[in-house]
Amino acid sequence: MSSVYPVSRPRRLRRTPALRALFQETEVQLSDLVLPIFVEEGVSDYVPVSAMPGVVRIPEARLAFEIERYAKAGIQSVMTFGISHHLDDIGSDTWQENGLVARMARICKDTAPEMIVMSDTCFCEYTTHGHCGVVHDNGVDNDATLVNLGRQAVAAARGGADFIAPSAAMDGQVQAIRAALDGAGFIDTAVMAYSTKFASAFYGPFREAGGTVLKGNRNTYQMNPMNRREAIRESLLDEQEGADVLMVKPAGAFLDTIRDIREATHLPLAAYQVSGEYAMIKFAAAAGAIDERQIVRETLGAIKRAGADIILSYFGLDIAEQGF
Ligand code: PBG
Repeated sequence: MSSVYPVSRPRRLRRTPALRALFQETEVQLSDLVLPIFVEEGVSDYVPVSAMPGVVRIPEARLAFEIERYAKAGIQSVMTFGISHHLDDIGSDTWQENGLVARMARICKDTAPEMIVMSDTCFCEYTTHGHCGVVHDNGVDNDATLVNLGRQAVAAARGGADFIAPSAAMDGQVQAIRAALDGAGFIDTAVMAYSTKFASAFYGPFREAGGTVLKGNRNTYQMNPMNRREAIRESLLDEQEGADVLMVKPAGAFLDTIRDIREATHLPLAAYQVSGEYAMIKFAAAAGAIDERQIVRETLGAIKRAGADIILSYFGLDIAEQGF
């Protein structure tokens, strides 16, 4: 006998706040979140990012102050993005012993040793052309870029980064980075791969935040957002290459992909609620069209419900300071 109405009344378990809390299936906690931050060298003032209301570029000289503030607020993990004033055609500042990548990691770890520091590992903020690697006549040279990714990873690890997070979308990047780290003795530095990274218009506001000068697009290295099977394949390749954590990016429009990958692997899975997702919520809330806090709860909850263990979100600081 099927128990349908009037025997079944799902509303019985929704009667009171206590009942609703008791039967809530998904919960997002501050410890699930990673806060992405933008750090600019060679400037003395904070620079607001107009496309991302509430987000600023932090002057390098203020990074220690900010990290202390985040740690006090309960943030346990940050992802560093550098805005470089030392651009060249290969992004060589990224692997200098005292380059911006290494300095950001060092400042974070010196200020708050318990803070988990993830180093976004790419070249687009350090190159004159804005591409994520070495550019040759026929586009971005995959294997030449791998060598440089390994160099950058070692520089970040030397600076103290706990995680190397390659976002350049080169084939073989996890394997190259793992080998470079192990070769330099950094066997405990973990790799969180941007394993399924779509070529997405949701990165729009990041271009201003990160100061990338790209003309054109990244369609020869980032994935076509319309591809489901390839999305799973990309993440599984990174698992085979030795990734410790996988990632889907962006998050909100790719909940099916998060679920697919969750079911295909036992590795921890991260999802990145990217700049465009943040901006859409902020601008709609500022226009009075939606309730920001409820939308943040709902979107982060949905990303977790889909199967993400960890969420990178620019809302992390608001949540730490004001609660969910
Ligand atoms: C670097 C990188 C990007 C983002 C994270 N790492 C930009 C891009 O790939 O174009 C986007 C993050 C965001 O939009 O919040 N490759």
